Amino acid sequence: MNKANKIIKVEGLERSFPSTEGKGETQVFGDVWFDVKEGEFVCLIGHSGCGKTTLLNILAGLDQATSGHVIADGFAVEKPSLDRAVIFQGHALMPWMTVMGNIDFAVSSRWPAWDKEKRRAHCQQFIDMVHLTGSENKKPAQLSGGMKQRVGIARALAIEPKVLLMDEPFSALDALTRGSLQDELLGIIAQRGQTSFMITHDIDEAILLSDRIVLMTNGPEARVCEIVENSLPKERTRSDMHTHPNYYPMRNHLIEFLVNRSKSFREELASASYDPKNPPVVRPAADGDTLNQVAS
Ligand SMILES: Nc1ncnc2c1ncn2[C@@H]1O[C@H](COP(=O)(O)OP(=O)(O)O)[C@@H](O)[C@H]1O
Ligand SMILES: [Mg+2]
Repeated sequence: MNKANKIIKVEGLERSFPSTEGKGETQVFGDVWFDVKEGEFVCLIGHSGCGKTTLLNILAGLDQATSGHVIADGFAVEKPSLDRAVIFQGHALMPWMTVMGNIDFAVSSRWPAWDKEKRRAHCQQFIDMVHLTGSENKKPAQLSGGMKQRVGIARALAIEPKVLLMDEPFSALDALTRGSLQDELLGIIAQRGQTSFMITHDIDEAILLSDRIVLMTNGPEARVCEIVENSLPKERTRSDMHTHPNYYPMRNHLIEFLVNRSKSFREELASASYDPKNPPVVRPAADGDTLNQVAS
């Protein structure tokens, strides 16, 4: 995996905003370094307010960093690109367009030379993939929350992006719907080898979906505390992952981070061994955690 092509490289990223008191600036996060390799699924977890959405917007090219940069497939990100599809927290569908119309809109901007028939056939594949066959002509108001997010997934995948960026795409859904969409997404992504980056604060979602999990401390001045390698077998499913001996070590490590270390990390930061360019990599497992520094 380490030799794989890095599709996204985040290098020394910082975002600050003018402070609300009117003087100076408040840094949301800074000195953030990590990467996403080809075919990999990386999750980032952190508490509300640590800057996750801000970070994703910068990755998408919708917001500018205060310093540092994001390299996507060899080029600095300056604006949005069809190579980086985003699935937002809300569904962000155009309410006056049908399911087909919403997906077709994205597909026609990706391939303007395609005729209507070719586009429709292409869209239909993705509508079928997310199990919305039969709902092609419905408008967003006629769909449940889960169905709307399915359209968002189909629309993002239909433009065949190099990387799929997701900002807590299932957070507004009930637990059952969230679970079935996670399963579907896992299947689709594994089958397509889709490089993905997802923000979440749901630990089980991160364990189910990701190859690696970036841990972000609380803001302001949030930092990447650590990168966790998923020690569960790749063939895991939502219904069996909790039976694997590495499940609780993974889960406990992430809970410990969210409950305690995300707040107290400043002391670890001050330790001489912490290098923001090379955050510690840990692989929690039943036969003992392994901690190593991996050269980037
Ligand atoms: N445009 C903005 N102007 C000022 N502050 C902002 C702006 N966007 C985000 N912030 C601040 O940045 C912090 C992180 O926000 P956000 O990225 O939405 O966090 P998260 O997604 O982790 O909950 C918050 O304190 C928020 O108030
Ligand atoms: Mg957010």
